[in-house]
Amino acid sequence: MGIERVVDTTNHEEDQTEQVLEQSLRPMTFSEYIGQERLKTNLKLAIDAVKKRGDGHSLDHVLLYGPPGLGKTTMANVIAHEMNANLRITSGPAIERAGDLASILTNLQDGDVLFIDEIHRLRRTVEEILYSAMEDYKLDIVIGKGPAARSVRLDLPNFTVIGATTRTGSLAGPLRDRFGIIHRLEYYKENEIEQIIKRTAGILNTKISDDATALLSTRSRLTPRIANRLFKRVRDYADVNGDGIIDKPLAEQALSVMEIDHLGLDPADRNMLELMLENYGDRPVGLTTIAALTGDEPSTIEDYYEPYLLQLGLISRTPRGRMVTEKAKKHLNSIH
Ligand SMILES: Nc1ncnc2c1ncn2[C@@H]1O[C@H](COP(=O)(O)OP(=O)(O)OP(=O)(O)O)[C@@H](O)[C@H]1O
Ligand SMILES: [Mg+2]
Repeated sequence: MGIERVVDTTNHEEDQTEQVLEQSLRPMTFSEYIGQERLKTNLKLAIDAVKKRGDGHSLDHVLLYGPPGLGKTTMANVIAHEMNANLRITSGPAIERAGDLASILTNLQDGDVLFIDEIHRLRRTVEEILYSAMEDYKLDIVIGKGPAARSVRLDLPNFTVIGATTRTGSLAGPLRDRFGIIHRLEYYKENEIEQIIKRTAGILNTKISDDATALLSTRSRLTPRIANRLFKRVRDYADVNGDGIIDKPLAEQALSVMEIDHLGLDPADRNMLELMLENYGDRPVGLTTIAALTGDEPSTIEDYYEPYLLQLGLISRTPRGRMVTEKAKKHLNSIH
């Protein structure tokens, strides 16, 4: 991996200042959450219905899926906030044993929202505990060992699971079936990304011109996390090389220093496309081969590089592998 990417959609949670900044930018209500109108409409309706029914009811379990950085975690926060509920956050890989999940579940209170990020990475044994917990609000546990072992059923409070995943494909059928609300997050429209950039500029007290905002929105891969990250990098550039105000010429300079082209591709994306072309030309290439060429994990290619390149029509997926499209070839030629 090595090089740090500006257009990186991963969450740099190890970075403290980054985390604080990310928190301050995170919308807490439906009205602050820009875009994804269909999702918001559906969720508002479901939440209003639960509120109207009153005590003893909880919101259906919600499964959010889609490429990274589109606002799944943010939406989980908004839902909890709009429900006046506590939000408990965990993730598939973090729950190592069935006992870990049991202790999370028994510590929940009525109405709590449990957010499980990367839910497709839950272990099998953990997942099975979750089935009855989600369906009947019961926890089946085995006490003791050997012949003395007996299984007991504990009541759990009414709670709502919000699961997030970049892939629904790798989610087991029985788990998927336990979600009442399943929704795919879409790439944002450019004007929505503009609004997000303006909102971020406002929160961070930075002046940015309309044409600079428009420019950045075309380079953000239609993804809020990248829009915010680009904005912050351009703001740093403006602080060092200008008077802190972001206008279009300055934004252009900053983007060219970062080597982000007019489609929002960075050197790592272009490198991947070029390696595919050099080695395979018009023939399809398998995921593991691409990963070997770039030195990344196959899952990194699949989750972080590919979705946006597919969305743009720069690569296509065939049964025999991925192929670089004519559009991508033209794009690569145009920037050399
Ligand atoms: N609809 C939105 N309106 C405004 N800002 C948003 C919106 N969605 C996301 N953001 C911003 O983008 C950042 C990334 O969003 P978030 O962490 O929710 O993405 P994610 O879909 O959970 O990604 P991942 O799959 O990588 O966890 C947030 O910090 C937030 O500031
Ligand atoms: Mg997230």
